[in-house]
Amino acid sequence: MHFLITAGPTREPIDPVRYLSNRSSGKMGYAIAEAALEAGHQVTLLSGPVVISAPEGATLIRVETAKEMYDAVSECIPGCDVAVFCAAVADYRVETVAGEKIKKLADRLTLTLVKNPDILGSARSVFGFGGILVGFAAETTDLARHAVEKLERKQCDLLVANDVSRTDIAFDREVNEVTLFFRNGSQENLPLSSKREIAHTLITRIESLR
Ligand code: C5P
Repeated sequence: MHFLITAGPTREPIDPVRYLSNRSSGKMGYAIAEAALEAGHQVTLLSGPVVISAPEGATLIRVETAKEMYDAVSECIPGCDVAVFCAAVADYRVETVAGEKIKKLADRLTLTLVKNPDILGSARSVFGFGGILVGFAAETTDLARHAVEKLERKQCDLLVANDVSRTDIAFDREVNEVTLFFRNGSQENLPLSSKREIAHTLITRIESLR
């Protein structure tokens, strides 16, 4: 199967030298790309700025902003069988990006933020994607409730939920612990293990949805 995987954070510019971003390292998405390749699949890896290198054999497309990621997904998704949206896309961007570096003059500075397009939420409704759709949810409270709500709202087949209130897992760590929520209502906990092991199990579960 041909996998489209989004990974890493996005960067939303404020001025030529500053940006808004988040703590995503891209490790989970890159591990999924590697596991998919090892299982014999074709992989297009659409990545925000990260310091890790892409697995050999993946087609890497680099983007910076959510808008660029949206455009790249819209272009790539028609040829794919599976879409895994692992990227920590910034929910908001600065409305007006300053053309020059903002000077430290005023005591207060207000930035107006506007909502970014929801890429995963557009997969079915805007891009018309009919393949296997996998989303992620990073939550600090009510993990299961938010995960199930997100699975339905974004019309996913599978949603991978992460408790990011825990500092021992997820962001920028080598290990993770996730719960899988399937469209048929079943769920499965993948206990604390390396992102590589989680990625391999995830690929097996995705293959069984084929
Ligand atoms: O709604 P929330 O941002 O928590 O949903 C997380 C899921 O949606 C992740 O799979 C993430 O990659 C995806 N997402 C996206 N585009 C956005 C925001 C989130 O694809 N603008």
